[in-house]
Amino acid sequence: MESENIIYSKKYINCSREELLEAVSQVMSPKRFTHVKGVEKAALELARQYRVDYEKVSIAALLHDYAKEQLDEEMRDIIISENMDLELLQYGNNIWHGPVGAILIRNRFNVTDSEILDAIRHHTVGAPQMGLIEQIIYVADYIEPNRIFEGVEEARALSKSSLKEAIAFSTLKTLKYLLEKNVKIYPRAIETYNAWVVQK
Ligand SMILES: [Fe+2]
Ligand SMILES: [Fe+2]
Repeated sequence: MESENIIYSKKYINCSREELLEAVSQVMSPKRFTHVKGVEKAALELARQYRVDYEKVSIAALLHDYAKEQLDEEMRDIIISENMDLELLQYGNNIWHGPVGAILIRNRFNVTDSEILDAIRHHTVGAPQMGLIEQIIYVADYIEPNRIFEGVEEARALSKSSLKEAIAFSTLKTLKYLLEKNVKIYPRAIETYNAWVVQK
């Protein structure tokens, strides 16, 4: 399925794909927008392979990094006003833009579909249990065509044979990378590791 051929039914979001692209392009740098379109492309390939709803996958992909360049102040306010886990405040946009992004998207675009919102919410650190759309966005974010890093080809190959193997591979690589940088690990990332990487 080529992304240009997708026509939104307006069941999940009250705009066309072209209008959504325009709205997304306005809240991020051109480089990030290119990444977002790459994630949609990779995600739609996975959606075809694993027989998942194209429209939901396209919407989740185009919106997954919507909050990546939002102001920290605004993000903090949402964490507090929405009674989110206050431990989040010890982290930054890298961890916030998924869960806070899901809230922003619900408020600004009236998206209420839980599969779309969960895919956005969990795209960075994953979750112990993820449905197919969550799995696809998590993997597509890692393997989209603009990504260049050691191991990306292996992740792409794995995604063609097993989504679960691709999740395990990318989760382990990301965690190792963070540990080597001596940065604070958000506990949910460990839960994702325990669920998807350990004792496969
Ligand atoms: Fe992201
Ligand atoms: Fe992303």
